[in-house]
Formats: sequence, C-alpha cells, structure tokens
Amino acid sequence: MGKSNEIDQLIAALPKVELHLHIEGTLEPAMMFEMAERNGVALRFASIEEIEAAYQFEDLQSFLDLYYAGAAVLIHERDFFELTWAYLVRMAHENVRHVEIFFDPQTHTGRGIALETVLEGIGGALAQAEQTLGISSRLILSFLRDRSEADAMETLEAALAWRESIAGVGLDSAEVGNPPEKFIGAFRRARELGLQRVAHAGEEGPPEYVRQALDLLGVCRIDHGVRCAEDPALVERLVRERIPLTVCPLSNVRLRVFDSLADHNLKTLLERGVCVTLNSDDPAYLGGYLTENWLAVRSALDLSRADVLTLARNAVEASFLEGDAERALLGEIEEVAARRSEPDQAGAGPHTAAKNSESGHRD
Ligand code: ADE
Ligand code: ZN
Repeated sequence: MGKSNEIDQLIAALPKVELHLHIEGTLEPAMMFEMAERNGVALRFASIEEIEAAYQFEDLQSFLDLYYAGAAVLIHERDFFELTWAYLVRMAHENVRHVEIFFDPQTHTGRGIALETVLEGIGGALAQAEQTLGISSRLILSFLRDRSEADAMETLEAALAWRESIAGVGLDSAEVGNPPEKFIGAFRRARELGLQRVAHAGEEGPPEYVRQALDLLGVCRIDHGVRCAEDPALVERLVRERIPLTVCPLSNVRLRVFDSLADHNLKTLLERGVCVTLNSDDPAYLGGYLTENWLAVRSALDLSRADVLTLARNAVEASFLEGDAERALLGEIEEVAARRSEPDQAGAGPHTAAKNSESGHRD
C-alpha cells in the first residue's frame, strides 16, 4: 500500500472531533427543498440543481446571503431536530466522536421562531446522538457580529432559560467592519455566567481582530484565525499561549481566503507549533464534511503521518472535553496510532498525551 493511502486509512480509523461547525450550514439542498415544500416557504430556486449551481461564492458575504436565505425553511422543532440528526448520523459514519456546534439564534428569532423551538430541536438530536451514536457534544450560541451588541445581550439573556444546554458563546457573520471590540460587554456577561468563549477572527478580518478577540473578549480559541500569519509576533503568541485555531480549509478556498488548498497556510502554522485543528464550517455549502477536509488537505499539503496524529490530538486538547472523557479519546488516538504504526515504530509504547495545563479552558 502506498504511503498516502496508508495515511488516508489512518485518517478514517482515527476517532475525530469537530470544533467549528454551524448547524445551519449543514442544510443540504435536498433537505432545504423538502422543508420548503413541507412548510410552505417560497425559495428563489426551482430545483435542487439550481440551488447547487448557486453555490459559487466570491467572498464571505456572498455566502452569508444564501446561508441566511436557506435557514428560512427551518420553522418547527422537527426541522431543527432533523437537520441536526442528519449531520450527526453522517458524523457517526465518519468515526467522529465529539462535536462542538454553533447555532445562530438571531437568524431564527429575527424571523419569529421561538428560541425554545430551536433549542429543543437541536438539543433533542444531540441528546439522542449521545445515547445511540456515541457522539458527545457541546452547543455554542453564536452572536451575529453584524447586529448590535444590545441584540447580542438580549439573545444571551433569553437563552439563559436553557443555560444547562449551552457550553459557550461565539461570534460569527460578516467580519470586516465588525471587530471583536464591539462585543466586549456581551462577552463579559458570558464570562460572568461561566460560559466558554470563542470567536471567529482572522478569516477575512486582519490579525488585529485576533488580538482583540484574545485581549478584549478573553476567548480560549480562535475560529479560523488563518490571517494571523501576517503578524509573526501574533503567531509566536498563539504558539506560546497554546491558543487553538479551528481551521476550515475547504471553506477557506470556497470563500476565497486562499486561492487553492495547495496555497493554504495550515501546514506552515502546524510546523510553526500552532495548535491547529481541522474542521468543516458549513459543509453543505462550502465543499465538504469533516473527513473530506482531512483527506483533501492531506493530499494538497502532503501531510505526514505525524502531522495527522498531531491534528487529531490537537482537536481533543482544544475541545471543551476534560478529565476522563478527554483522556479516553486521547488514549484511543494512541491505540489506533500504535495499531497502525510504521514498521520502524512497531512496538513503540503508546504516547501518553496530557492536556497542557496552560492550554484553553481559561476563565
Ligand atoms: N457563519 C457561518 N459560517 C461562517 C463563516 N465561515 N464565517 C463567519 N460567519 C459564518
Ligand atoms: Zn464559521
């Protein structure tokens, strides 16, 4: 078997973790069409093929316009359940064991859907997946940064009725012109409530937004963050403080952050020592689910077996998992690695990875 084939099989066999996934971004054209008919929602597309043909994006905003339009078919609890469940079933087939999922409450409450409908639907699927698919999860409430901070605050307060279902808050939508500093108060409140904090930064926005997310919002990881590479001192800081980046390579190419996967800086950042993780972002719109991202990047950037194992371990370390659950998943990675060890490494004992006490999970 060729080396690249062996590494692809290792990728398939590894227990995987996804940390950057917008549940609204898993709405496949066929499901969008079916829900639109079922719920009597008019779409501006006449067929599934027309929807697919429209997925040619120039930048983040051109994607967001379609993504928000698509979300309009989600009306009932059943819709949110089915959306989430379909994603989780796919992830079970890909040997994904833990997911941390964004949802955008304002996208739904803004069109008159009750928060209860959204949370009961998504939450029901997550609970069922834990029981029947063996996938653990955390839910991250993401504020839309192109709306006001007051709107974000109001959303957060309303969500407190489901405090136990929500692990943390995030920040997404149109980045440029909506810097993290706009949301200092909302993130301060999230901190007071004991919520984890993450933010999209350095996707289309400048390295300064990554700095603001760290210094002003107190986030424990950065979503995307790839533009950090323009600021060597910032990269050094990410390495030193072991701040994870949730990188989404296929999304970055579709949204023209990089011209091609071969131009992506993920491997350079990994080699520099940044805690890079691999994720899909909005897989129904932006080129593929988690394993497709892994395989595409392995091929385009010629990732080694060691790179793949580092990425797998990084995702567990960067997750909100702690204690036994974290150790168990890290142990499984080492078991798979040992079982599929290279001939010159056969017999080497399992690597005992422990969470760096300075990483993530800061309050
Ligand atoms: N919302 C959904 N996907 C997003 C992305 N890639 N960047 C910002 N906001 C988003
Ligand atoms: Zn995203």
